[in-house]
Amino acid sequence: MKELTRRNLIDMYQEFFKNKSHSVIPSASLIPENDGTVLFTTAGMHPLVPYLLGQKHPLGTRLCDVQKCIRTSDIESVGDSSHLTFFEMLGNWSLGDYFKKEMIPWSYEFLTSDEYLAIPLERIAVSVFEGNENAPRDEESASLWKECGVPEDKIYYLPKENNWWELGTGSGPCGPDSEMFFDTGKESCSNECSPACDCGKFLEIWNDVFMEYEAKDGKYMPLEHKNVDTGMGVERTLVVYNGLKSVYDIEIFMLLRKKLEELTNKKYEDNLKEFRVIMDHMRTSTFILGDDASLTPSNTGAGYILRRLIRRMIRFIKNLEVNESILEDLATVIIDYYKDDYKELERNKEQIISSLLLEEQKFNKTLSSGYKMFNKVISKLENDTISGEHAFKLFDTFGFPLEFTIEMANEKNLNVDIEGFKQKFKEHQELSRTASAGEFKGGLSDTGKETTRYHTLAHITLAVLKEMFGKSVYQKGCNITPERLRMDFPLDHKMTDEEKETLTNRVNEIIKMNLPVTKEEMSLEEALKTGAEGTFSEKYGERVYVYTIGNISKEICGGPHVENTSELGTFKIVKEESSSAGVRRLKIIME
Ligand code: SER
Repeated sequence: MKELTRRNLIDMYQEFFKNKSHSVIPSASLIPENDGTVLFTTAGMHPLVPYLLGQKHPLGTRLCDVQKCIRTSDIESVGDSSHLTFFEMLGNWSLGDYFKKEMIPWSYEFLTSDEYLAIPLERIAVSVFEGNENAPRDEESASLWKECGVPEDKIYYLPKENNWWELGTGSGPCGPDSEMFFDTGKESCSNECSPACDCGKFLEIWNDVFMEYEAKDGKYMPLEHKNVDTGMGVERTLVVYNGLKSVYDIEIFMLLRKKLEELTNKKYEDNLKEFRVIMDHMRTSTFILGDDASLTPSNTGAGYILRRLIRRMIRFIKNLEVNESILEDLATVIIDYYKDDYKELERNKEQIISSLLLEEQKFNKTLSSGYKMFNKVISKLENDTISGEHAFKLFDTFGFPLEFTIEMANEKNLNVDIEGFKQKFKEHQELSRTASAGEFKGGLSDTGKETTRYHTLAHITLAVLKEMFGKSVYQKGCNITPERLRMDFPLDHKMTDEEKETLTNRVNEIIKMNLPVTKEEMSLEEALKTGAEGTFSEKYGERVYVYTIGNISKEICGGPHVENTSELGTFKIVKEESSSAGVRRLKIIME
């Protein structure tokens, strides 16, 4: 097999599916637009969930793409030879169009045909679902593989754990899958050796999911239309195909490695963990910051993951004894490499670099005093555990993410009292909530009756904008005075008179329904699970309030709000204008 580059692989894949009447769709944002249950897009199918559940896609029923994805469940494992937090995923979809009998021969063709990957048949193994109480054994896929020429002893029946795909949240479209593996030709590790084992004989390259169900509350309901969702990890396929020892041997990391060696005068081979962490975290951070949804580092949600990535990277840069800033040079290598496929990187280059530098500055201010405190704390330990109080101080005063303190403690064979940290964190949240509530009251007329009414009006307005322009509409900005509400939201056109009228009528209709406005306190996680609207630009604590207005709106919000929509006046738009590219601004009053 000759060498495969990222460019060849992506082009070949898209060409193959274009020839089978697929439309190529652009990669969606890394920050899910219509899903509050996860912080980042984790798979190619993620942005397509509404279409997999039956909504019509404007580009038809056959789609393919390369999607940027982030999985951060094991950030601390990055540094070994295989973990990455960012990856690209090739995928193709049938939205109620073709199914197994087309997809399996196509997969076989793409993998083995001379025009495409040209993998010799003896190097291919596949797995199919063995069946359980929710879905039958997948004999159909097995016989399709056999018809293609895959020998019976290379078709493995595996359980749900291996051959079933659903989102990590356990809800949404799902079904049995059939996975394809590269058989390295190594000896089997035992009689039971199969693609399910991690001895390294079989390496996964592609996954065909046959989505026939929708999971909801642990139940599996048949979908009206059967879909296909396939996923091929770009980095992984390059490693397997080219027989590389580590994912850090692919092209982008070779470029970064060279740059980092130049900048640090250190060798990759002598500093494997540092180099890998820096390269991975820089790539992920650059993509997050380059996304048009433009997240910035913060202490909550996706912003916190971004902060952890940047700060962990900086810590490892310091381990290489580098004192000047090298972030811009590294980010530039990444932007240049990927900009043809992800135009947003070039478009947002300035913002990417300035956010990286700002976070670096913030962290540098406290880093060395934080290290001093850390060393002092561990020199005085009476047992092997850093207290929650100390971990919280490192977090709150010195900006050390908890996971960062844990990792440093583990390097010294120490632990951290995580529960104690959480307790301190909670106390602090309560304190700051009280403090800001106090400020509020002492301040202008912010909790005054008028402002409160406008707060509730803002929630209804946002809910109606979503009804009108789709779930992806969110509140980009909101400013309230006792006299008016100003709201910014993304929309690609000036609102027509008709749209303004629809908005006005619908909001007024809701106001007249005399709906109760209720408030519940819950954890941020629970709130997001219930589908409550949240704006990530806001800083949320671990516990939040969720305000619900009838069945119209559910938002995470500090309040205050009226108790019933009947307390509101008549909604009136006084101005509709552009606020920035693709963002409209509404000025609204109540009469
Ligand atoms: N959703 C499947 C996966 O992530 C196939 O795209 O592997």
